[in-house]
This record gives sequence, C-alpha cells and structure tokens, in this order.
Amino acid sequence: MKAVRIEKYGNIDVIEIKEMDKPHPAKGQVQIEVHASSINPVDWKIREGHLTQIFPTKLPITLGLDLAGVITEVGEGVTHVRVGDKVYGQASVWAGGSGSFAEYATTPAGTVAKMPKNLSFTEAAAIVLTGTSAVEALNENMKLKRNQKILIHGGAGGIGTIAIQIAKHIGAHVTTTATSDGIKYVKQLGADEVIDYKTQAFDEKVSNYDAVYDTVGGETYTKSFKVLKKGGIIVSMLMPPDTKLMKQYGVTAILLMTQVTTKFLDALTKLVEDGVVKVHIEKTYPLSQIKEAFKAKETEEVHGKIAIEVKK
Ligand SMILES: NC(=O)c1ccc[n+]([C@@H]2O[C@H](COP(=O)([O-])OP(=O)(O)OC[C@H]3O[C@@H](n4cnc5c(N)ncnc54)[C@H](OP(=O)(O)O)[C@@H]3O)[C@@H](O)[C@H]2O)c1
Repeated sequence: MKAVRIEKYGNIDVIEIKEMDKPHPAKGQVQIEVHASSINPVDWKIREGHLTQIFPTKLPITLGLDLAGVITEVGEGVTHVRVGDKVYGQASVWAGGSGSFAEYATTPAGTVAKMPKNLSFTEAAAIVLTGTSAVEALNENMKLKRNQKILIHGGAGGIGTIAIQIAKHIGAHVTTTATSDGIKYVKQLGADEVIDYKTQAFDEKVSNYDAVYDTVGGETYTKSFKVLKKGGIIVSMLMPPDTKLMKQYGVTAILLMTQVTTKFLDALTKLVEDGVVKVHIEKTYPLSQIKEAFKAKETEEVHGKIAIEVKK
C-alpha cells in the first residue's frame, strides 16, 4: 500500500510517498481501508517537529489524523464496529494509530464510529478533528445555551466553520472573527456579527459575553478575557489556562485537547444527519498530490477544509 511518510522533520520537501506493508490491528484495534482523509494544522505542526516535546516519537512515521473508510479487519475485543462498516475517525500515530495518509490504517476502535449516512467518505473525513473539537468545546466544556452570547475566533477555519453552525443551532448569539472573503463566508454560515480581525479590535467591539471559543491563541487569547462576563468561560484549542487572568476577570479557562472518540463522533453524526452541520470543503487533492495539499493549507486562505481522496 501507499503511505505518506517522513524520515525527518521539516518543510513539505521531507514528505515521501512510500510502498509499505499493510498494518494489522492489535487487540482493541481496527484496520480500515482509507477512502479519504483531510489536512489539519496539527499535521504540518507534527511534520515540522513542533510537537516533539508534547508527543515524543521515533521517526519514520506515516502522517495524517482524519480518515473515513471501510473496516477491513477487527482485532480481538472490538464490538461496536464490524468488517464492512463505513466509519470515520482518527488514526494519528500520536493516538495509537498507524497514520491516516495511507491506503490502509490501523487505530484503536474507540477512536472511530459509523459515519453519517448522508455524507460521502471525503465529506466525512473532512470533519473528524474539527467537528469533534467543536462538539466537545460547545457541548461538553461550555454547555452553551440558547440566548447566550459566544465569540468564536477564526470562524472561517476548520473548527470555526462547525462551531458557528452548532452555536446557531443551540440558539446562541454568535459573533465571530474573520477577514477578507472569510467575512462573507461566515455570514453565510449564520454568524450574527462579524469582526474583521485585521482592521478591528474585537475586545473593543464586544463585552459581557458568556463564552469565547479561541482557535487562534497568542494575543487573541489573552485579550479575550476582557470580553467575558463574570462567570463566563473561554475554551482555547491552543493556550493553557492563564490563572492570573482567570482570577482577574472571574472566569473559567480551559485548554481543550480534543479526544476523537466514538462518543463525540456519534454526537457529530447526529448533528450532520439532522442537517445542523454542513461540510465545507474548499479543495480536494488525490493522495499522490499530498505535497500540493499541504502547500495550499499552509499558504492560502482556506475556508473550511482541504480534503484528500485516497481511494477513487
Ligand atoms: N488542542 C487540540 O486538541 C487541537 C485540536 C484541533 C485543532 N487545534 C488547533 O486549533 C487551531 C485551529 O484549528 P483549525 O483546524 O480550525 O485551523 P484552521 O482551519 O487553519 O483555521 C484557523 C482560522 O483562524 C483564522 N485566523 C488566523 N489568525 C487569526 C486572528 N488573529 N484572528 C482571528 N482569526 C484568525 C484563519 O484565517 P486566515 O485564513 O485568514 O489566516 C483560519 O480561518 C490550530 O492551531 C490547531 O492546531 C488544537
């Protein structure tokens, strides 16, 4: 089978497509014939070696986290999925998988679920990490409610796209940050108010909010405390809780390390099948053009996701 491998950390030039033996599932794992995947920022962060402190690993590895495909083998003790099931989930080497940018992958069975019936493999693969992140943040961490006010940073990105749709469905008032063509895009997703993050200071435009969802980090994170009301919550995808700011503003701060689990995938499936969450894919590349796909994600303005077709 073909797999996207790196033997050293670096820019897109370190990526190689290699012939490999198929991986076989250990106890509690499944083997999946991968039909599609998608690119997340974590894929290039791993490729460049930025996460070696948090997730030490030995190279070479196969890159890739998101996948959708068909179960082709199950290991001992796997009960919730069977051979032939169409599933989506993750297969990152950092979470016990063999890497999803490959024709076959193995992964712990608890990180996949049956995929939404109304999606193609490519669409399903495009919402794995982004969708489970948004579900976990808004439903589990924030417990966002009708009529609450939420500020979602990076609304045109992978996570932001889904978070806006879920927050609107809950009945929250949604303000989001975006720029240029992204402004029109987030309005179409249903955002009530949009702040251009390149020309406007969001912390001067909104205040007294119940929740902030930070998918950007840095100054965007620290400035966000000011827009929360006392008792509010900020969930960040990047920043550890700033205890000084938490105390100063009387708010809760959480760093979400997304768990791609059957439970969160099932919750996402329901939202997709109920028509709440629609998938937005900006471009699709075949696996053979994985370098071009990375380049597009790293250098272009992408609304929603870049998908990878593995099996035609
Ligand atoms: N902790 C975890 O477990 C976890 C899980 C998933 C993701 N993450 C992290 O979460 C972040 C977001 O993920 P994603 O998949 O949504 O990434 P993404 O698709 O690249 O989206 C990021 C969005 O943020 C926008 N942006 C950039 N600078 C901004 C600013 N100053 N203010 C407002 N928006 C800004 C970008 O817009 P432009 O196109 O205009 O630059 C882009 O639309 C990434 O850093 C990712 O690694 C963490």
